[in-house]
Amino acid sequence: MLNWDDPLANVTTPARTEPRAAPPSDASFDDASVDTDGGNDFPLGSDAAAAPEPTQAPPRPGNGLVGNDDLMRTAGAAPVVSPNPVPAQRSLLDEGAHAPSGERAPSADDDTGAQGGATGLENLEMGAGRLRVDDKRIINCNADLNQLVPFKYDWAWQKYLDGCANHWMPQEINMNADIALWKDPNGLTEDERTIIKRNMGFFSTADSLVANNLVLAVYRHITNPECRQYLLRQAFEEALHTHAYQYVVESLGLDEGEIFNMYRELPAVARKAEWALPYTQYLADPNFHTGTPENDQRLLRELVAFYVIFEGIFFYVGFVQVLSMGRRNKMTGTAEQFQYILRDESMHMNFGIDVINQIKIENPHVWTEAFKQELVTMIREAVELEARYAHDTMPRGVLGLNAPMFEEYLQFIANRRCAQIGLPEQYPGVSNPFPWMSEVLDLKKEKNFFETRVTEYQTGGALSWD
Ligand SMILES: [Fe+2]
Ligand SMILES: [Fe+2]
Repeated sequence: MLNWDDPLANVTTPARTEPRAAPPSDASFDDASVDTDGGNDFPLGSDAAAAPEPTQAPPRPGNGLVGNDDLMRTAGAAPVVSPNPVPAQRSLLDEGAHAPSGERAPSADDDTGAQGGATGLENLEMGAGRLRVDDKRIINCNADLNQLVPFKYDWAWQKYLDGCANHWMPQEINMNADIALWKDPNGLTEDERTIIKRNMGFFSTADSLVANNLVLAVYRHITNPECRQYLLRQAFEEALHTHAYQYVVESLGLDEGEIFNMYRELPAVARKAEWALPYTQYLADPNFHTGTPENDQRLLRELVAFYVIFEGIFFYVGFVQVLSMGRRNKMTGTAEQFQYILRDESMHMNFGIDVINQIKIENPHVWTEAFKQELVTMIREAVELEARYAHDTMPRGVLGLNAPMFEEYLQFIANRRCAQIGLPEQYPGVSNPFPWMSEVLDLKKEKNFFETRVTEYQTGGALSWD
């Protein structure tokens, strides 16, 4: 799908309907070949640099870099769902539906294996044995999905509580200083305006993509009520993020058509969305079910693609750029929106990592050496894509930042992501050029950040509704 004539056109991308092949064992990654001199060229590695030139003129930006068919599969259309996905069972009140006390009654799920019970909407079994914590499984669970307790995964419930405690709304943030600065012809440089507009373009649709992936793909396959509780909270937070970007776009009077179409018109923005789309399309297929080692790996691969890479790497150049502006007292309202969003996203990513590691614990057979190497390849490819984004959004350097600093930062966070899911670190010796980012991230270091708003929401419970 990478179909425009730049070096990225030669980057290996996942096939839309087939599993990604394991990379060749002799795959080489020539990090030193990444351009760090701020020039216009930006080769991605020895393989990309050596690839032949395309022989046909590819479609150009403006003609829809991401095809509408691809978008509609996840972003615009609900998947086709069978009206009777589970075989009819005995009526709840049928005689004989009662099982002896403490014994689990047989159900249609017993015959359909992992596919049964995934929705939690199957017929109730009157008198079925009570749910035991040991019945719960994070995927391929046949136990009742409507019973939140007893908890098996306390970490998921805790993250749900933490997410609720950090509640915020975009319109609470004062945008007046941003509006004045944006309207002042001398308020910002053109490079600074480019950073704002391109990040609005990327994030406004990226968060929508994440939300659609959650509710149309991931949710169905995570078969645990406390994890689903967090996913519901996360889905709302993604809606808040899209709301925040719309609020900034509206406040600054940006061209909505330009911003919201950037992910299909501007390569720097489009290529990241395009990288992620094939992963979600697998799981959104109504005929896709986990329960086989191959399909469980597909789910795991998709979780890494979205939680570790999309939310854990692809967001971070934009976060640093906009938060850097705020640190220099520019676009402070927009930067505050991003600060809230960054904290939400950090929790999303950590939840995803917990889910990935729990799936590994319960299904160790899927964590093969070939699969690990495939994930490493994905992460390294993502670092290169995001470094390219840094270069495209600030080709001359701005705010005391430049593309090589972002390259090191991305390698630094990629090392952390790898370690968090049990993969070897890929970039030895790199350090964090933006140590202030970890302070922004660490909720404990800025105790007052949410204090006023949390208080406001707590007092909201005392409102009278007469
Ligand atoms: Fe988000
Ligand atoms: Fe997120």
